[in-house]
Amino acid sequence: MLSAFLSVSSGSSNWRLIHLPLPLKRFYFTRVSVRSKKLVLKSGGSTSSSSPHHHRHRCCSSSSSSSSSSSSRLVRRMTSSSSHSHARHHANNALSSSQPPVFLETDISLSLATFGLSVPAKQTSRFRNLLGKERLLKRPNVNPVQVSEHAPDRRILLISVEYTSLSELLSAMPVESTSIIKDAIDTSEVEVIQPYEVNVPYDALTMQECLRQIIPLAEVKDDDLQGSFELVGRVAHVNLRDALLPYKRAYGKVLADKNPRVEIVVNKTSATKNEFRVFPMEVIHGPPCINEDDGKLSLVTEVKQGRFKYQLDYARVYWNSRLEREHARLCETHFLREPKGGGQVVLADLYCGIGPFVVPAASSDGTKGGCNCLVYANDLNPDSVKWLKENLRRNKCSSNVAEASVDDAVLYARKLVRRGIRFDHAVMNLPALAVDHLVPAFQGILNFDELATDAGSEVSQVATAAWDGWQDDPPWIHCYCFVRGKTSSGGLGDGTGKAAAAREVEHVRDAKRLVMHRLCIGTPAQRAAKRQRADDDDQGGGGDFEATYAPEDLESIDADEEARFECKAHVVRNVAPGKIMVCVSFPLPVEVASTRSSPSDVLARL
Ligand SMILES: C[S@@+](CC[C@H](N)C(=O)[O-])C[C@H]1O[C@@H](n2cnc3c(N)ncnc32)[C@H](O)[C@@H]1O
Repeated sequence: MLSAFLSVSSGSSNWRLIHLPLPLKRFYFTRVSVRSKKLVLKSGGSTSSSSPHHHRHRCCSSSSSSSSSSSSRLVRRMTSSSSHSHARHHANNALSSSQPPVFLETDISLSLATFGLSVPAKQTSRFRNLLGKERLLKRPNVNPVQVSEHAPDRRILLISVEYTSLSELLSAMPVESTSIIKDAIDTSEVEVIQPYEVNVPYDALTMQECLRQIIPLAEVKDDDLQGSFELVGRVAHVNLRDALLPYKRAYGKVLADKNPRVEIVVNKTSATKNEFRVFPMEVIHGPPCINEDDGKLSLVTEVKQGRFKYQLDYARVYWNSRLEREHARLCETHFLREPKGGGQVVLADLYCGIGPFVVPAASSDGTKGGCNCLVYANDLNPDSVKWLKENLRRNKCSSNVAEASVDDAVLYARKLVRRGIRFDHAVMNLPALAVDHLVPAFQGILNFDELATDAGSEVSQVATAAWDGWQDDPPWIHCYCFVRGKTSSGGLGDGTGKAAAAREVEHVRDAKRLVMHRLCIGTPAQRAAKRQRADDDDQGGGGDFEATYAPEDLESIDADEEARFECKAHVVRNVAPGKIMVCVSFPLPVEVASTRSSPSDVLARL
């Protein structure tokens, strides 16, 4: 893109380099005051002088009606942003001055062609009522009633852009109103002004309208400019298409300007491949975001789910606001029930993140939906556990959390049993891999002979006593997984009717079979052995980032066993086309928990 740079040299000034995109330039500089750090811009081609239709009637909406106020607004904004620019330059690579520029707001406006009815000022309400609200121009920040430039005692009623002519307008109105307006036109009480040009300023434009002016590329579709994003407190997360990358800073700024809660915009730069499920990101809009202690990106933000508040560093821990309903559902459906023997429900959250299951489960505040469980929380990411502890403190539920551990989930589950900690529920929310962790975590977990041999008889006695009679009330495992959609849309689709219901049944069945397959329940070993899997170590995953399955894995499940396997599966969300997240909840089967086969024996059978 063509551009011009202005450099202002001043020892102490924050002004260094200002980049002006040429296609947007309609300003020239009249004065640069280094002392006051003010840059005074004057319109060198306002809409009126550059418009080929300058003879037409025109109006500006209130927020941009005066060019001097536009200039002062611009000066104000630039001055305030300059206070951050030095730090930004050094601290934030993503926003260094070598990046493409942010545009000038005053250069972005839209000229809307419509038509108006000029009416006597005193008759404004009468004609406005006759026309009806729905036929007047509807745009935020644009008043559909304008004072006439030429006759101060007259008002112009701006007509909705849906109507391109008077006849179209009149034919859409009730007959009586039509004839009153026609008569008024005949007697010149009402005058039709067509065309009537309305200048809609930056503040009143939609995100798409603003970006369209900055990004004229044909390959960028309007849909790409709608500005869909996931909001995590003050941070908006976007996934920009490649074609938009040269304009990422402008995109980030418009998105933040149009969404008052957004302060920082980050773009996902590639697929999530790390074990902590934190995606690689780049800040494309916002203040400096570098942690001074370690020089790394840090995006501390606050989110709310239900009646609980969480703080987290979005650059370092996993968070997905779209799981809010699922967090609440699991708690309401399972953790409020008392165990058979009575007493407090004990929960093990093996991949707890920053605590969206732990906090409501542990909270004893029933008015907030707290379940008053005793919770053992664990996550491999030390940052997650750090924020978990902070969130327990903020939500006043630390006393119900027995521990917040940094460990591998598989090892942690087995350690809990050995220590004689009997949990009623285990949550496994790592959908990419949790099914592959089932056997390593739970196979033979309650085979106390084995516990005795590999952990010493003392430990075994504690564990045996704690888990005595567990068969009558086995722990429930809530395992999240991904299944593929088989239909052409590949996912849940938008439909609500029979087709959507049928798809949901399919996803539930596939998820159930996937869990059975991984637990080797109802799976003829010889058929299952054909399955191609790379991840065969007993940490479940062996460096892979996503569990996979072949269609025949699911088809191999024995129908009678499937009917017998007690489980409740719930479709959580459509993550991507052909990738559906499902939660499978089931009581840990006796044959899995008490088997004498070691996890590696079982994995070898797969
Ligand atoms: C999908 S996130 C879910 C976090 C949280 N339950 C939630 O709903 O927001 C999965 C979490 O598992 C953690 N994790 C990944 N591998 C793990 C492992 N082997 N053991 C324990 N935690 C693990 C990640 O750090 C991440 O916080």
